[in-house]
Amino acid sequence: MKNQVKIANVIKPFKRKKIFVSSDKSLSIRCVLLSSIAVGRSKIFNLLESEDVINSLKIIKKLGVNYKKNKDYFEIFGVGIGGYDVKNNTILDAGNSGTLARCILGLLSSLDKNIKLIGDRSLSRRDFIRVIRPLNLFGVKTKSINGKLPLEIKGTKLLRPINFYENKASAQVKTCVIFSAMNTPGITKIKAKKSRNHTELLLKYLNYPIRIKKLKSFDEIHVKGLNQIKSFDYKLPGDISSASFFIVLTLLSKNSSLIIKNINLNPSRIGILKILNKMNAKINIVNRKKYRGELIGDIKIKSSIKLTPINCPESLNSSAIDEFLLIFLVAAKSKGVSTFRKLDELNKKESPRLNLAISFLKMIGIKVIKKKDIIKIYGNSELKLNKSYHIQKFLKDHRIFMMSVIAALTLGGKWKINDKDSIKTSFPNFLEIVKKLGAKIN
Ligand code: S3P
Repeated sequence: MKNQVKIANVIKPFKRKKIFVSSDKSLSIRCVLLSSIAVGRSKIFNLLESEDVINSLKIIKKLGVNYKKNKDYFEIFGVGIGGYDVKNNTILDAGNSGTLARCILGLLSSLDKNIKLIGDRSLSRRDFIRVIRPLNLFGVKTKSINGKLPLEIKGTKLLRPINFYENKASAQVKTCVIFSAMNTPGITKIKAKKSRNHTELLLKYLNYPIRIKKLKSFDEIHVKGLNQIKSFDYKLPGDISSASFFIVLTLLSKNSSLIIKNINLNPSRIGILKILNKMNAKINIVNRKKYRGELIGDIKIKSSIKLTPINCPESLNSSAIDEFLLIFLVAAKSKGVSTFRKLDELNKKESPRLNLAISFLKMIGIKVIKKKDIIKIYGNSELKLNKSYHIQKFLKDHRIFMMSVIAALTLGGKWKINDKDSIKTSFPNFLEIVKKLGAKIN
């Protein structure tokens, strides 16, 4: 089968290898969107060229923003806030990307045209009520069936500032509201449960009038609307979510070590490092530096023989939200029972990830109990597989595919894993890097 990989051997030990992974997807999408509303030409170096980001470029193009691809950077010719130029009844296709779909809606809030937002099968089952609600409060008109795509939106020049409480710890919702606030006269006030803060850091770097007060589990964000941002240069670091597949590959392989270079280590993204270190992993950060408000560094990892279980505090959920498939795999290979709580949001990702993860663990012989919002994983440090496994029933979800590859390369067994193309959304050269480390994949 064309879109399938086969793995029949665990990876051989690899030592002191150095790799770079793909650029940060969250930041890449935000750089494209923010440069589209900056005034003048921005230069974005190292932009992630994955489907989600290419769809972001296609969407800004449809909104009247030109861009040009050069050898090592993209030039984006921003039109300023309120400068989008588009025909009535334009259709925008966000493909597989929840981040693109939800964030772009905020930028459309003052556009007085009928726009239809669509996406692929996976995106079309995801929840948009979370952004429709605040957009309607701003005065934006929307039409959809049950808050799902396709979504029709008509913005207005008569937006009013809102007070909004973001209680899902969703950076996509927070960014949508911040973007809409930038189109709105006056001050919008957001109380947001902690989530990744790339949008806020970028706007601070760009001197946009945004005020952030950090409280224990919330941030209070005040955004003053209708100020322009100047064009900017940005060089993207690597993505911790992509690096995580290699962190776990190394941890669960024998006698191996790895350095992953130049990764964005924003504190709102490194929950996986904190969780794995609590599970007795040996992960170190070296070469730390600051760039445009973000923290960047190299990650050093060694194989771990004795992994311990974790009672995972809920406070780490949001900073590890995309990494739980991998964390569960580590829990499965640790000695004892791990507990996780309040992770139902995972079922609202590209596929119902929590349900799929539980079926996956059961398939490889791990006992899992889910009662209400508590999940218990009964780890087995001796876990070695020798059966055949076929991963086939999941919606286009890059992270399920890549986690399955890591499981196959570390636990044994004979595997067929479908939907290889899903990696094109976030990490197109994932398999090349795995092969460079010595993995045999057909
Ligand atoms: C993202 C936010 C998270 C995350 C997604 C990327 C972002 O989603 O899961 O992969 O770039 O803002 P939520 O905001 O829905 O939690």
